[in-house]
Amino acid sequence: MDKNSPKTEGPFQSEAGLADVVACNSEICFIDGEQGRLVYRGYDATELAEVSTFEEVAYLLWYGCLPRMTEFRVFLAGFTGSMSLPVETTMILRMFPKAVTPMEVIRTAVSSLGHWDPDSGNTNLDASLRKAQRLTLRIPLLIAAHQRLRHGHEPINPIAGQGIAFNFLYTLHGKIPDHDLVKAFDVALILHADHELNASTFAARVTAATMADIYSSVTSAIGALKGPLHGGANAEVMKILEEIGSPEKAEAYVLDQLAAKKKIPGFGHRVYRCEDPRVAVLRKYAGNITRKVGKTKLFEITQAVEKVVLEKTKVFPNVDLYTASLYNAMGIPIELFTPIFAISRVVGWTSHILEQWSNNRLIRPRAEYIGPLDLQFKPMEERT
Ligand SMILES: CC(C)(COP(=O)(O)OP(=O)(O)OC[C@H]1O[C@@H](n2cnc3c(N)ncnc32)[C@H](O)[C@@H]1OP(=O)(O)O)[C@@H](O)C(=O)NCCC(=O)NCCS
Repeated sequence: MDKNSPKTEGPFQSEAGLADVVACNSEICFIDGEQGRLVYRGYDATELAEVSTFEEVAYLLWYGCLPRMTEFRVFLAGFTGSMSLPVETTMILRMFPKAVTPMEVIRTAVSSLGHWDPDSGNTNLDASLRKAQRLTLRIPLLIAAHQRLRHGHEPINPIAGQGIAFNFLYTLHGKIPDHDLVKAFDVALILHADHELNASTFAARVTAATMADIYSSVTSAIGALKGPLHGGANAEVMKILEEIGSPEKAEAYVLDQLAAKKKIPGFGHRVYRCEDPRVAVLRKYAGNITRKVGKTKLFEITQAVEKVVLEKTKVFPNVDLYTASLYNAMGIPIELFTPIFAISRVVGWTSHILEQWSNNRLIRPRAEYIGPLDLQFKPMEERT
């Protein structure tokens, strides 16, 4: 600190990275970082992953309770029954330069979706929920449409009434997806749907707390998700798996990285002090799907990496570790790994935005100033 710096003027405490700082009350998601527990509105997320669907979990996160049969039918009729992209969005997607990454595309395209939302400007709760649901339906469609366009194929219309997992794989690959792949993808969507005040959700809440609109808030979240320390980590896992090349080379690779004090993607977490509870479910599905499609090499390398990291460090695997081999086995290219995170997390972001608005106060922390004070201004010619 500079000798001229002021002493802290108030009862402030600063914590690097806001670690363990509680920034709001929330009824949406509970994480027990010591015991490795993840709960959505009272229900164990790993159990939901096995027995529920992404659409039902989205309902739970938005409305706060599980739907009854008739409520769910009505909800689905208005939700997955109305999946489509505005024609203007497809026109915009055609205009992006070929080199722009899918994550940059969704950041820009999601922002533009607000211009063609019939509820644009309407901030009541019902309209906000409709916007949250339109965003959730449109993000997977625009990711798939852009991917097809950049490879010279025309976008495909989704099949009304099918779920988001089915329609993402269908509109991406252009063929009816295998049932087990749809289930595995649905499981991954459920497990990524919310995670309390992770960086992108916090960004969404900070923007929402200024009373900016839902599209601005979700665009902020996508910007935060893009970084390799957050949503970008699943693609980083894929890169190291490809670099390692075979399970036998995993140990040497990990030891080299650790010796060079480099972090291994797919490991470590700000909150969990044990294995992230989502890992066990994703490990199981990654194993099953890679065996089913006969592409087990990346899964085996992942296991070999995991074994060495656990032997040599106290750092545990996180949600990103097994999604790389899982998505790869589904034929999903690496550049879509992080965008896929947004397909799911938009449900969490929008749930948090609505919760923020239900009892809003501007989020405006303080910084502890550590620079100089009382410096004397000198004309430029007198500066040495
Ligand atoms: C997620 C992450 C950003 C959390 O960061 P953080 O809470 O600030 O934790 P730190 O970076 O302070 O790490 C704490 C300790 O664990 C070690 N560590 C954390 N993640 C590690 C990893 N992936 N590989 C090796 N060591 C790791 C750090 O070196 C540090 O060790 P030290 O105390 O001996 O210096 C960090 O673990 C990371 O960069 N992981 C890789 C990227 C990733 O997978 N992100 C997805 C998160 S879901």
